Amino acid sequence: MSEPLPAGPSAPVGVSIHPVPGLPDFRPGDDLAAAVLTAAPWLADGDVVVVTSKAVSKVEGRLVPTPTDPEQREAVRRELVDAETVRIVAVHGRTRIVENRLGIVAAAAGVDASNVRTDEIALLPLDPDASARGLRDRFGAAGLDVGVLITDTQGRAWRNGVVDVAIGASGVEVLADHREKVDAFGNQLVVTQVAVGDEIAAAAELVKGKLAAVPVAVLRGWRAGPDQAARTLLRPAAEDLFRLGTDLAIARGRAEAVLVRRTVRTFTDEPVDPDVLARAVGAALTAPAPHHTKPVRFVRVHERRHALLDAMQQAWEADLAADGWAPDRVARRVARGAVLRDAPEIVVPFVTGEGRHGYPDGRRSAAEERMFTVAGGAAVQGLLVALAAEGLGSAWISSTMFAPDVVRRVLDVPDDWAPLGAVGLGYPVEPLTPRPPVADGLVQR
Ligand SMILES: Cc1cc2nc3c(=O)[nH]c(=O)nc-3n(C[C@H](O)[C@H](O)[C@H](O)COP(=O)(O)O)c2cc1C
Repeated sequence: MSEPLPAGPSAPVGVSIHPVPGLPDFRPGDDLAAAVLTAAPWLADGDVVVVTSKAVSKVEGRLVPTPTDPEQREAVRRELVDAETVRIVAVHGRTRIVENRLGIVAAAAGVDASNVRTDEIALLPLDPDASARGLRDRFGAAGLDVGVLITDTQGRAWRNGVVDVAIGASGVEVLADHREKVDAFGNQLVVTQVAVGDEIAAAAELVKGKLAAVPVAVLRGWRAGPDQAARTLLRPAAEDLFRLGTDLAIARGRAEAVLVRRTVRTFTDEPVDPDVLARAVGAALTAPAPHHTKPVRFVRVHERRHALLDAMQQAWEADLAADGWAPDRVARRVARGAVLRDAPEIVVPFVTGEGRHGYPDGRRSAAEERMFTVAGGAAVQGLLVALAAEGLGSAWISSTMFAPDVVRRVLDVPDDWAPLGAVGLGYPVEPLTPRPPVADGLVQR
């Protein structure tokens, strides 16, 4: 590592940031590391070389040819943004904030028509961390032990102005973890992680500038720390408190909550806050129901869980025995499916007898009954989606529907309450991620 540059006569030693002027407009196949070594013969061990991702995109050939006509070029740009998008985070007018396939949330998925020729558009490097490692290796081969950061420009949700952030890194600690440390006053720092990679990227931008065509800067005097990928800076979906967005994003957020729900059968041990469950139930009970009724109840089964599951198992065993199954086959069958035993919480949904209209004939009575059952289904789906929006996984299991008398007896609920299965829920082992909508379900007549 290099010695910091001497500071001014009275200022304490700090870091310094140096532009690397005189670099060409890079083209595919150019040797970026060699160009930097030529333009910055003063580069020294311990420096951090901060490279604008656009320069890396250019040398890696991540350029898409476009018509020069501004409208046609814009049309191509939009197609590229769509192709790079894996999740739309927010839409405002023509601005689209999206997550791209690298997991980076940025305007226009990092597809950029600035600082490139007017007959092409730049995409982000395919794997910026790998690009950073490659560059660092090249500097290493020239005998220099430097860190490398690759940067892109991003807006922030709650602050005006864009800043440069680190999207690729090698040989630099990008996320300094102070969580176990104690501050100068003796307070334990609970959640302090510092995005050093982004701080360096933003600082380097001071001397690079957007219009000055200086794609590379060097930070000197910084203890680069252990090697970390810039990917470390991406917040996991499960920890993203703002994933479902507000205001402009809210409709999309709701749609995404539906897509995030999936049947989860393995859960972590983390307990479920009763308030979170109550909130999800409250949301679920806004589901539509016939005749302006509220015919659904969710029973959180806690103390009686084992009694319920044991009694249902006995009823199931009796059904299978009555079907003529041999005892060992029955035992094997009921041993499967421990979801409701293992889930941190279980909830049994019921449709109550409230509000049914009476009919003299079986056809209409059965239709009335079905109407209430489907209303119950709507509420259960509402619960599962509301749970997903809270980061909770769930499995809707049919079993209680096959032993309604047993369930009513053990849970001590009225005779006209019909159970609609049971929902096991908890925090999923695998994070919930949205999946693509299902095609071909909309039939036209
Ligand atoms: C009424 C109903 C009953 C279900 N019963 C069971 C069940 O007994 N056991 C189970 O593992 N999954 C059960 N499921 C979950 C489905 O198997 C699951 O929804 C399906 O495999 C699709 O997967 P997904 O929910 O991840 O989209 C049930 C789902 C519904 C709607």
